[in-house]
Amino acid sequence: MDYGSISVNNMAPACGGIVDGVDLAGEITNQQFDEIHRALLDRTVIIFRDQKLSEQQQISFSRRFGEIQPSAVSGFEKNENFPEIDILEYDSNNPPHVTSELWHTDFVGREKPSMGTTLYARDIPPEGGDTIWVSGISAYEGLSIRMKTYIDGLWAFNDAYKNYNEQMRPELVKKEYQNHLQKNERAEYSPALHPVVRTHPETGKKGLFINESMTSFVKGLSRRESDYLLHYLFDHLRTPEFQYRHKWRTNDLAVWDNRVSLHYAQFDYTEHRLMHRVVIKGDIPA
Ligand SMILES: [Fe+2]
Repeated sequence: MDYGSISVNNMAPACGGIVDGVDLAGEITNQQFDEIHRALLDRTVIIFRDQKLSEQQQISFSRRFGEIQPSAVSGFEKNENFPEIDILEYDSNNPPHVTSELWHTDFVGREKPSMGTTLYARDIPPEGGDTIWVSGISAYEGLSIRMKTYIDGLWAFNDAYKNYNEQMRPELVKKEYQNHLQKNERAEYSPALHPVVRTHPETGKKGLFINESMTSFVKGLSRRESDYLLHYLFDHLRTPEFQYRHKWRTNDLAVWDNRVSLHYAQFDYTEHRLMHRVVIKGDIPA
C-alpha cells in the first residue's frame, strides 16, 4: 500500500507492519495520522521503533484513535498521575497474574470490547517476552467455504472469568483487587454475547471473533457440539500463517486493532520487562 508521509514494512502476509518516518513525540499532522490509521486497518498491528515518549505523549497519541477506556479497576498497577496507563511490569520474581499463556482478545467479556491498544516498551529484557498477534480475518479466510457458511450467523458467549480458576494465581493478585472480584464485579457480571464471525466496522471484512481465553459456549448448540467446534476453531487460530510474532526492543510502540485479532504474551523471560498500556474504547460487535 502506498503512503505519502510514512513507510510501512510488512512483517508477515497476515498482519504486522513496522512504520517508519514519524516521530510520535512531535506534532502529527492529520495526513500523517490518516495514513497511520490506514496502516493499522491494513496490518492489524503496527510498530513504531525508537520512539522516546513521555506518559502524556503516549496518551495523546492514543487519543487520536478514539476515547481512552477508563481502566480504574483492571488488576494492573496504575501511575497516580496518569490513570489512563496500565503498568505491566514483570520479571521472574513477579510473573504476570492472569493473561499469560492464553490467546485472547482484550475485554471481549464486555458488551463493548476495546477497539485497540497502544503498548509502549519502556524496558525490554535481552531475550524472551515476544508478543504474537493473529489476524482473525486471515483465519476466517483460511476456513473452507462449508465451514464459513456453517459458522456465519452463530453467536457465542464470552466470559471474562472462563479461565480464572485454572489460570489465575490468586497469590499474585493484590488483595484489594481480589476483594473487588469477589464482592462486586463477579456478582453483577454476566458473559457477553458476540458474533462468532465479526464484520470489521471500518473495512467491512469478516473475521473470526472467538478466543480460547474467554469464548465459552456457542449459542444454539449442545454443550458437546459447542466444545468440539470451539476446540477446532481455537486450534485453527493457532496456525502460524495467520500470525506475526514481534521481538520487542526498548522504545517500540505497538498499536493493534483489537476488533478482529487475538494476541499471546509470552512469559519466557526472567529479567525485568516494563510496558505501558493505553486501551481505546470500542463499540458493540456486529
Ligand atoms: Fe491482552
